[in-house]
Amino acid sequence: MTTPRIRYGGDYNPEQWPREVWEEDYAAFDLAAIDTLTVGVFGWAHVQPAEDSYDFTTLDAIVERAVAGGRSIVLATPTGAMPPWLSHEYPEVNRTDFEGRRHSYGQRHNHCPSAPAYQRFSAAIAERIAARYAGTPGLIAWHVANEYGGPDGSCYCESCAAAFRVWLRTRYGTLDALNQAWNTMFWSHLFTAWEQIVPPNALSEHWRGPNHTAFQGITLDYRRFMSDALLANFVAEKEQIRRHDATTPVTTNFMGPFRPIDYHRWAPHLDLATWDNYPPGRRQEVRMAFSHALMRGLRGGSPFWVMEQTPTITASRDVNSVKRPGVLGLWSWQAVAHGADAVLYFQMRQSQGACEKYHGAVLDHAGRTDTRAFREIAELGAQLTDLGDAVLGARTPARTAVIFDWDSWWTTEMTDGFNRHVSYLAVVLGYYGALWRANAAVDVVPCTADLSDYDVVLAPALHVVKGDIADRLRAVVERGGTVLTSFWAGRADESARAFLMDAPGPFGDVFGVRVEETDSAGPGEDNSVTLELQTERLTAPASLVFEVLVPEGAEVVGTYDDDFYAGRAAVTRHRVGLGEAWYIGTDLGAAGLDRIVRQVLERHDLVGPHPDDPDLEVVDRIGERGHIRFLLDHAATTVEIQRLDPDSSPTTLLRTSAGFRT
Ligand code: GLA
Ligand code: ZN
Repeated sequence: MTTPRIRYGGDYNPEQWPREVWEEDYAAFDLAAIDTLTVGVFGWAHVQPAEDSYDFTTLDAIVERAVAGGRSIVLATPTGAMPPWLSHEYPEVNRTDFEGRRHSYGQRHNHCPSAPAYQRFSAAIAERIAARYAGTPGLIAWHVANEYGGPDGSCYCESCAAAFRVWLRTRYGTLDALNQAWNTMFWSHLFTAWEQIVPPNALSEHWRGPNHTAFQGITLDYRRFMSDALLANFVAEKEQIRRHDATTPVTTNFMGPFRPIDYHRWAPHLDLATWDNYPPGRRQEVRMAFSHALMRGLRGGSPFWVMEQTPTITASRDVNSVKRPGVLGLWSWQAVAHGADAVLYFQMRQSQGACEKYHGAVLDHAGRTDTRAFREIAELGAQLTDLGDAVLGARTPARTAVIFDWDSWWTTEMTDGFNRHVSYLAVVLGYYGALWRANAAVDVVPCTADLSDYDVVLAPALHVVKGDIADRLRAVVERGGTVLTSFWAGRADESARAFLMDAPGPFGDVFGVRVEETDSAGPGEDNSVTLELQTERLTAPASLVFEVLVPEGAEVVGTYDDDFYAGRAAVTRHRVGLGEAWYIGTDLGAAGLDRIVRQVLERHDLVGPHPDDPDLEVVDRIGERGHIRFLLDHAATTVEIQRLDPDSSPTTLLRTSAGFRT
């Protein structure tokens, strides 16, 4: 297993079963061409059974056996789950929840990020592990903790309150600036001492849960603070690792579009982006493609890893269906197509007890290798070996970008006065889906990204306007590009204060439009929009939000069909120089979005291959070793991989059905 290839393997916790079983595991790993094992995740209690005692016997044996056959390891620090002694001796490490209840010992991913004891002991155990295992042959990455965040990603304890005040002092300097930002003249909230500020939760600014806050500015800052506080835990462990190992990449496994943590704030601190792909249903190809692009976008388009996916079923859902024949291969190749250089599982062998004992694994409780699932796993291993290094390090160049913004996500979903049925992620996925169906190559980027290489930039519902984003969108249009945004864009500044101007605020002059009224309706109370596009006139369903637009330089492309604003503008296009700026004031369904997005892409010749087959996804990776095309048919569950040679017809590298080569 020395030839470079897409890494294949996953989370392996053999400390949970007897040694005799280990050899059975390894025999099966050989059958499936498994070359990479993630070890050490959640091993804190056996490595440090008490505050002053360490025992590396088990981890030594695991590491030694794992690398023995020339395999690689990803070595985790164990801090994703706390040992009982830590929680018992230092109750401050237990999180205080949204209702203000200090939790007692249990579960995982639930430490208080501001607790001095957690900070001290997590950094110390990371240091011990780094000191012991740095330089181990086959160690290819460090994996810090696990899926930072936990249930709602937040703690509301006294330590966090104190740390929040420090964070606020750094951000605002003075209480005057803070009062301005939070608009505290409202409801008599003028703060006159830092100590008066408390975390926004069910006991303070919130009612009806985390999305209902009296002060969006406070809650928005608390979310940023909490994301930064957890990041500080990661950085503290990384610093300890770096004392002993200057070069091996350090990562932690993300969760794609996970609301509690702003991964864009974390991105500069990662050496490698990795994420866990557990789609919430059977046909989730658009969401998965989007998530891969979002994760790839964290590191400027560099390849990322799928750190976890289940080979068969998950255990945490109400209904846990198996992956149908071929789906494992299809979804794994989809990840590779979008830039994954590793496809790893959770987990290599099923746990014997506790809540994940029925979670799928490469090996089931009986250790069978003659099952359908194992055969597909082994077949995928063989296919990855065949592909070799053809795409390793290769990029997925795109001239189209979608802007994704955690601040806009948080703010739109906690803002009163709009429509609680609208989900920011669903809106963005709606636009991304239209691009996906056109097989356009797309990057998903933060609003701070350099936009100068994109011809098309979609910024749906970009509610919070930060930095010079308005100028940079204008620059795209001025040099002939196309930008597009939607309802709710440009409404709030970075403290969630409304602009004292027409919506879409600072975006108004780029889009040449203003919003006169914002109507909302419940699910099912639809309207429709008549669109006059370049080549056709059509009526497209519209729902949830209906902004009545007044063109100020823009031309009207779509008008509402019903209600008192029938005939008024719903969709506009502003031509500026050689470029165009589209504004879509309503939640247009796929029918309307597909047509608009197609027209935008056509203008720049960015429609991808086979745009008229709604189930066929086509993705290219281009690198030093050439141009590889992936054709993923999500209805037929087939994969075809081709090498596109400059002067001849494509060579087929792989064609599958039901996961097997045909
Ligand atoms: C997450 C965790 C794993 C495991 C899986 C189960 O991704 O990182 O430890 O719990 O979910 O799906
Ligand atoms: Zn806390």
